[in-house]
Amino acid sequence: MEKIEHIGIAVNDLEKSILTYTSILQTECYKREIVPSEFVETAFFKVGESKIELLQAIDGKGPIAKFIEKRGEGIHHIAYEVTDIVAEMKRLKNEGYRLLNDEPKLGADEKWVCFVHPKDASGVLTELVQAIRS
Ligand code: CO
Repeated sequence: MEKIEHIGIAVNDLEKSILTYTSILQTECYKREIVPSEFVETAFFKVGESKIELLQAIDGKGPIAKFIEKRGEGIHHIAYEVTDIVAEMKRLKNEGYRLLNDEPKLGADEKWVCFVHPKDASGVLTELVQAIRS
């Protein structure tokens, strides 16, 4: 694990939260992206070496909608950068951690991603990310 790549925050109203975080962080949102497979719209802010990823559900569907229904707005996941996601997935699986996807999947911000079950990580949904090299 190289560093905390980003922290994902589930929000009700992306436009409103973009304004809030622009004000808190004193930096503009540098990227917005829809991830149709996850029913989510994202907005990214750079904070030094890390990022904040705001996540809003689309059409009230998908994991963010479920999360907000259960727990309201708040920190949804922590993402760690790795250099070899396949190797890290294999290592964690061998150590008994439940992965939410068996293969790396395409995430926002040009990354391969994989999620570790929150119950296996002290209640925190844990994401591995590896940059897709072009
Ligand atoms: Co993320």
